[in-house]
Amino acid sequence: MHLHSSHPVFLSAIALGIACLSDTRMMRAAEESSPVLRIEPGRVTAHVRPGLYGLMTEEINYSYDGGLYGELIRNRAFTDDPSKPVHWSVVEGEGASAAAALDPSQPLNAAIPTSLRIDIHAASEAAPAGIANDGYWGIPVRANTLYRVSFFAKAEPGPGQPAPPAGFFAPLKRLLAGNTAPDWPVKVALQSADGGTVFAQARVTGVGSGWRRCEAELRTSDAPASAKTRFVITSSRPGTLWLGQVSLFPPTWHGRVNGNRIDLMQKLADLHPGFLRFPGGNYLEGDTIATRFNWKETIGPIWERPGHPSPWKYHSSDGMGLLEFLEWCEDLNMEPVLAVFAGYALKHEYVPAGPGLQPFVQDALDEIEYATGGAGTTWGARRIRDGHPNPFPLTYVEVGNEDWFDKSGSYDGRFAQFFDAIKVKYPKLQIIATTKISSRVPDVIDEHFYRKATQFYSDIHRYDSYSRSGPKIFVGEWATREGSPTPNLNAALGDAAWMTALERNADLVVMDCYAPLFVNVNPGGMQWKTDLIGYDALTSYGSPPYYAHQMYNVNRGDEVVASGLEGGAGLFTNTTLSSASGELFVKVVNSTGTAADVRIEVSGPGSLAAKGRSIVLCSGSPTDTNSIEEPSKVVPAEYPLLGVSASFAHVFPANSVSVLILKTR
Ligand code: AHR
Repeated sequence: MHLHSSHPVFLSAIALGIACLSDTRMMRAAEESSPVLRIEPGRVTAHVRPGLYGLMTEEINYSYDGGLYGELIRNRAFTDDPSKPVHWSVVEGEGASAAAALDPSQPLNAAIPTSLRIDIHAASEAAPAGIANDGYWGIPVRANTLYRVSFFAKAEPGPGQPAPPAGFFAPLKRLLAGNTAPDWPVKVALQSADGGTVFAQARVTGVGSGWRRCEAELRTSDAPASAKTRFVITSSRPGTLWLGQVSLFPPTWHGRVNGNRIDLMQKLADLHPGFLRFPGGNYLEGDTIATRFNWKETIGPIWERPGHPSPWKYHSSDGMGLLEFLEWCEDLNMEPVLAVFAGYALKHEYVPAGPGLQPFVQDALDEIEYATGGAGTTWGARRIRDGHPNPFPLTYVEVGNEDWFDKSGSYDGRFAQFFDAIKVKYPKLQIIATTKISSRVPDVIDEHFYRKATQFYSDIHRYDSYSRSGPKIFVGEWATREGSPTPNLNAALGDAAWMTALERNADLVVMDCYAPLFVNVNPGGMQWKTDLIGYDALTSYGSPPYYAHQMYNVNRGDEVVASGLEGGAGLFTNTTLSSASGELFVKVVNSTGTAADVRIEVSGPGSLAAKGRSIVLCSGSPTDTNSIEEPSKVVPAEYPLLGVSASFAHVFPANSVSVLILKTR
C-alpha cells in the first residue's frame, strides 16, 4: 500500500506520529508488508459479562488508611504502637509546658485499650498547650473547605484549678451556678507544620470530667492547598486532658459519613468497574489467624473498632470495615465479590476441616447474612442498625486467598466444608475456589499472575484451549510488573495484550481484576512495587496501565466476534461488538518498537460508517510513565478515524495500545 499525505488514514496517523512516532519509524512501517486483521462482526464467539473488568483491593501500600478512606488523623486511636503515641507530638505555646503519653489505665472502652494523657503544666489563652498530629504524610488543607472533627475527651484540673462539670446535668448545674464552672477550654485547629499559620480553628464545648464525644467543624478560607500542615488540639488551662479516638474528615464522595476520598473515588468511577473483590489478598488471611480480617470487629461505630495489625506491616484502623466495603460497591455500582476467611493464615497456621473449622464457617455465613439478610435475620438486622436498611446484591463468594500456599493440603477439606454450608443456605451463590481442588466442583477458580510483559505475550493463548466443561475462571489478581511505584507504558502493553486474551475467552473468564490498586507514593508508603494508581496527601494520578484498563472497560462491548491476525509479530488483538449500538471495538496492542501498518478487513453483511474513532495510548519510550509531578505524561488521545471501509489500512504506533471504534449498520 502506498501512503500519501492526502490519505485520510495517514492523516490520522500523522496526528499520532506527533505524540508517539518519529517520521523515520513511520516510513519504515509503511514500506514493510502489511499484516492483515480479519474481523467477522456477524460471527459471535462469546458473550462478555458487563462485570468482566473489576477492582481488587486490600489494605496494602496505605490503600485505605492514608489512601481511599477519608480519615486524616494517623494513629487516631493511639493503638498503632503500644509503647508511644506515634505521629502525635506535644505543642507548647511560648511559656507553656506539657507532656503526653499513652494511658492504658484510662482506656476509651473495651475495644480501644488506651487513651492519650496530656499533662498540661503551664498554659494560658495566649500560650496554650496540647498535641498535634502529622497525618498521613501531611494533612491536605484546601481553601474554602469544611473539615469535621470528632474525639472523645475528659479532663481533670491541675493544682488550684476548679473541677470541670460532670455528667448529664452539667450544663444545668453551670447555669444555676452562674456559669462559674465553664467547659474545659479546648480548641482544635488546622495549622502549618510549624504552627506559624492557622488555616482554621474552633472552640470545642462539653469537655468535662467523664468521657464525652465532642464534635467541631473547621472551615478554611482562601489559602493555597498544602500538606505541610498539622492538626492540633490545645487547652489554655493547666491540668490533665485525656483524648480517645481523634478523627478529622474532609468532604467525602457522596458526602458519606466515614466515607472515601473524592479524587480517588473519581479515578475508580472513571474505570467503570463491574465488581470489587475484597477484603484481600493477604489482608484477608493475616499473618496469623488472630490477625486475620475479622469482619465482626470492623462493623459498628468507628470508636468501637479495635483495628488490627496487617500482614503489610502497619496497623489497620478498620475504618474501612465490612459495611464500608459494601457501600463503596454501592457508590460505584459494582457487584461485591466477597472473600471469606477460610481457616488459613500466611505464616502457615491453619484449621483443618472438622468441628474446629465450624466457627469460621459460621462467621462466613453470618457475613453473607450481614450483606444480604433482611430485618428478620440476626445479621441483616444488625446491618440495618448500622445504618443500611437495604440488603446488598451478592452473587460471588470466594473461599480464602491463594490457598496453593497451604502446603498442608488442608484446602480441599476446608473448601468442601465452606462450600457445602454456603450452598445449603444460599444455593444461588457462586463459590470461588482459590486453587484447584478435587473434593468439590467449585463454580469458579481464581488464578493469579504477576509477570513481565514478555511473559504475558508468550502465554497469550493460555485460555484459548482451556476446558469449557469445568469451573469458570476468575483472574482475581494480575499485573505486568514493570515500573515502580506505578507501572510504566511497557507494563500497559503487557496488560493490554493480556486483556485481549481474557476478553477473547469471555465465555470462560467471567471476571478479572488488576492488583494492587493503590499506592501512597510517600517514602515508606509502598510495600508492593507496581500499583495501578498513585497518590500523596493532596493529589493522585493514574499509571499508563490505568488508562489501558479504562480504554478496555469503557469500550468493552457485550459480544466477542471472530477475528484473526495474519502476520504482525508482536501485535495482540481482539474485537468485541456492542449489540445495542452496533459499534465494533477493535483492540490492538503493538508491543514492538516499530509502527505497524495493518490492513483491516471487515467481512459480512451490513456496512461500516466511513468515519470512526481511534483511541491511542503511546509515548516516546516504553519506560515512560506518570507520576505526581507528571500525571499526564502517558495518557490516551482520541482521533477521528477517516476512510473506514470493508478493507482499510491503519498504522498502529510503536509501543501503543489502540481501540478503534467502528460503526456497523
Ligand atoms: O497483590 C498483592 C498480594 O499478592 C496479595 O495480597 C496476595 O494475594 C498476592 O500474593
